[in-house]
Amino acid sequence: MKLWGGRFTKETDELVDEFNASISYDKRFYKQDILGSIAHVTMLEKQHILTPDEKDTIVEGLKSILDDIENKKLEIDESFEDIHSFVESTLIERVGDAGKKLHTGRSRNDQVALDMRLYIRDEVIMVNDLVKDLMAVIHRIMQENLETYMPGFTHLQKAQPVTLAHHMGAYFEMFRRDRGRLRDIYDRMNYCPLGAGALAGTTYPLDRNDTASLLQFDGPTINSMDSVSDRDYLIELLSAFSTIMMHLSRLCEEIIMWNSDEYRFVEMDDTYSTGSSIMPQKKNPDIAELIRGKTGRVYGALVSMLTTMKGLPLAYNKDMQEDKEMTFDAVDTVKGCLTLCAGMLDKMVFNTARMEKSARQGFTNATDAADYLVNKGVPFRDAHGIIGRLVLKCIEQGISLDELSLDEYKKESDAFDGDIYEAIAMKTCVDRRNIIGAPGRKAMAAVIAMNREYLEET
Ligand code: ARG
Repeated sequence: MKLWGGRFTKETDELVDEFNASISYDKRFYKQDILGSIAHVTMLEKQHILTPDEKDTIVEGLKSILDDIENKKLEIDESFEDIHSFVESTLIERVGDAGKKLHTGRSRNDQVALDMRLYIRDEVIMVNDLVKDLMAVIHRIMQENLETYMPGFTHLQKAQPVTLAHHMGAYFEMFRRDRGRLRDIYDRMNYCPLGAGALAGTTYPLDRNDTASLLQFDGPTINSMDSVSDRDYLIELLSAFSTIMMHLSRLCEEIIMWNSDEYRFVEMDDTYSTGSSIMPQKKNPDIAELIRGKTGRVYGALVSMLTTMKGLPLAYNKDMQEDKEMTFDAVDTVKGCLTLCAGMLDKMVFNTARMEKSARQGFTNATDAADYLVNKGVPFRDAHGIIGRLVLKCIEQGISLDELSLDEYKKESDAFDGDIYEAIAMKTCVDRRNIIGAPGRKAMAAVIAMNREYLEET
């Protein structure tokens, strides 16, 4: 059952087998392992290292194994050490001696480096698509809420009025950058390690350019020692995943707050909420909380990977086998969270009247009131003081700046006129902010058009 029994006189301890084995998780890339092998033998034949018959026999055998696994006719036997051993042994069992030539000019070190890259490459594309799906939901919300006013916060204190389109637009930008990072990672990792052998290449005249192009890589990796011991791309990936999770977590944190009775900015759909076993009235945002919570395990994978790699001498070391479980877990977590977040957001109802009411309270137009005075020739610092005193007066009377009488305004400064009310109206406050990046209707409409183009093109 082992690929390497020759130089041993005793069987390995059962616990050692169990501890050493990776098949329970690396079986995940059976397909990549088989496709990598097919490319390898295709190249071996072109280089006259295998005969055409041998190559055909091996390729047919490998294809039958792939088909049978996919059709559930063949179960991956977990008593093997890893997926590589399982595929090779099954091949030899099926096609006989030709199968024993599969591993010519190859080591499991470059093989596993290849399999993982092939697997991760596909996952990067899938995660990239899922981020895009989420962005499409965000874009739809932006389009529908150009004039949905809400308070913008700093320090979680109401600051200035914005719109829901503008607020959601911030997340659109975060996820756009996340996709950019995934693209960069893909481009940097897309080189083929096959042919690096155990660490020092091989004496067979392998055509590494050929295997690389058969497997749609941009080319072969350049240094064989680096090829079998590089896990940088996983660290970059886990870092990009951590950033995606951080963004999702911030969004979920806001949704959780907005869903609370204190805010009531949103109503979660029943399909994305859960109840309490004791409190009949409860409708909890568990999904948002779980996404926020699962962020921790993805960060954990990143730190774990960095720590695993930091003390490793060149080239391959078995420590590197630890790259898989945590990366797979992070991949599953990120994909699950992106899907759930998009669904939850898509079905969430925004209580726009309540948002707008909240924006009217809390003096979010105080800056605009000060700017009004500046336009009438009052220096900004003086205007700041005047409005500050008026805000204090309003707080004492339990009213907003919009409700303060013109007399009261004039008592603080005779620069005030009847047009103050129009100047500090919510719509004015937002719509006058029309420079690039601001929440004004015109500025946001341009962003929304730009974002639509982005979604169509990328
Ligand atoms: N399961 C191993 C891993 O994931 C495959 C490579 C084994 N190589 C070796 N020299 N033991 O790293």
